[in-house]
Amino acid sequence: MMSSIPAARTPPSTRPQWWRDAVVYQIYPRSFADSNGDGEGDIPGITARLPYLRRLGVDAVWLNPCYVSPMRDGGYDVADYRRIDPRFGTDADFDAFLAGCHDVGIRVIMDIVPNHCSAEHAWFVEAMREAPGTGAWRRFHCVRGSGGSGQQPPNDWQSVFSGPAWSQLPDERGEPSGWWYLHLFDPSQPDLNWECEEVRTEFDDVIRHWFARGVDGLRIDVATGMVKAAGYPDPDGSWPHPHWDQDGVHDIFRRWRAIADEFDDRVLVAEAILGFPDRLARYLRPDELHMAFNFSSLTSPWDAASFADAIRWPLEHNDAIGAPTTWLLENHDIARAVSRYSGAPLRQPLENITILDHVPARELTQAELARGAARARAALLMSLALPGSFYLYAGGELGLPEVLDIPDARRDDPVWHRTGGATVGRDGCRVPLPWTADGSTYGFNSGSVSWLPQPAGWGRWSVEAQEADPDSFLNFTRRAIAARRSLDLVGGIGDLMASGGVLTFTRRSAEAGVLRCTVNMSEQPVDIDDDTIVAMSAPAEQVFGEPVRLLPDACIWTYA
Ligand code: GLC
Repeated sequence: MMSSIPAARTPPSTRPQWWRDAVVYQIYPRSFADSNGDGEGDIPGITARLPYLRRLGVDAVWLNPCYVSPMRDGGYDVADYRRIDPRFGTDADFDAFLAGCHDVGIRVIMDIVPNHCSAEHAWFVEAMREAPGTGAWRRFHCVRGSGGSGQQPPNDWQSVFSGPAWSQLPDERGEPSGWWYLHLFDPSQPDLNWECEEVRTEFDDVIRHWFARGVDGLRIDVATGMVKAAGYPDPDGSWPHPHWDQDGVHDIFRRWRAIADEFDDRVLVAEAILGFPDRLARYLRPDELHMAFNFSSLTSPWDAASFADAIRWPLEHNDAIGAPTTWLLENHDIARAVSRYSGAPLRQPLENITILDHVPARELTQAELARGAARARAALLMSLALPGSFYLYAGGELGLPEVLDIPDARRDDPVWHRTGGATVGRDGCRVPLPWTADGSTYGFNSGSVSWLPQPAGWGRWSVEAQEADPDSFLNFTRRAIAARRSLDLVGGIGDLMASGGVLTFTRRSAEAGVLRCTVNMSEQPVDIDDDTIVAMSAPAEQVFGEPVRLLPDACIWTYA
């Protein structure tokens, strides 16, 4: 019944257009591995773990921002776009990391944060020395407030992190000036004005800097937000929104694509959170970006019909223009998949918080944890069968749950602070990784502190604890990635169906005929007619019989 999987062919990372079907591992540098014991992960820590990444079988890594930053929003507040923050190591450490990755065939994608900079960026510091609305303010959105003396914000745009998206500037005597600057996120992240040509040429240069240095790709933060509607109108319910998905962003990305094309095989990946797959596909037109995350798969609940929609619509729109679809189940902005799929009740985020926040309202029971882990495995196996690239967030391969018991005083996310704790924020998915079963930081470093506290028992999910168990989440993930590579899946999907809570689709393997992926999201076992199991997410003893009986919360690949 079990069949052997063909031997792996050329790793995708060495093929032309490697990004079309790559498995990309997302590293939150602060939380991955700390080489110097200061409590924060760093670049030498990542370099030291390259053998681990190789064994996992990933084609590329994406690093969250590690540029000079006061870290008011985890580095998404950049003070210098060309330099590595000393907390993460030196610029030489970065170059050594890049060379080390390339030596073992792993590509490197960096984050670029063009919508806003840090209030400590030289441009904002310069602007703050000038009278509001003059000179250096041209690079930002500095606007007169409404009301007689400008004491009200210019419009009712809301920050993604809650509250008004505008902060009032002081005049030279320190009194309210009636001038306001725009920040779609935290006040420490002033939005850049992309109508200013100097902003455009500066980022042209930043992009060339990183590509010339050897970086293989850039993930574009807040890609839909960079252009604001003229006159800063209030939203009226129509689309595009005055500060999301404006047509003008596409001119910027055409310009960036031309820059990427000056180099070999470099890629641009959009963080474009859009509810409409037709609008998302516009970012992937042949002269624009290479990839854009499909956030509908990230936010889908454990429901076959919902996942089928999250798969069908982006594929339909992207296929029509020859663009790949980019899948993910986790990232640094959303609660861990194990916890989201556990069936436990989720907290309700504040109404105007659009940042992803699906955090369980209470600690999970053992049964919920087991259910969430089974479902997260199944979702992973399903995602690896889809056409396109897959982004695996560090810790996802260990089946880490969301950490819920971070003491208030240790929380770092500006979402937590700006909402006065009403929205718990994203710290729970950013807790430093456990490498060893014991030790004061579970092998994260050789010291005794980690920037976010790790919960008691964190070693249960450690790499060390999982290494020896063939059925562990980690070993399952390794097998699943290896199977995907060996099967060399090609073409689109066939026969996508969600029926009775069971999701199925087929792919063609260049090596081995037609493969069927079946995910049981129902409460009942299902019988599978195909008799050859290629890969499965549940332990072997749970998948049994002739015909094969697949239990709830499991996924299986069979030859159709
Ligand atoms: C993106 C990032 C998120 C950050 C925000 C502002 O959504 O993924 O972490 O807070 O942009 O830069």
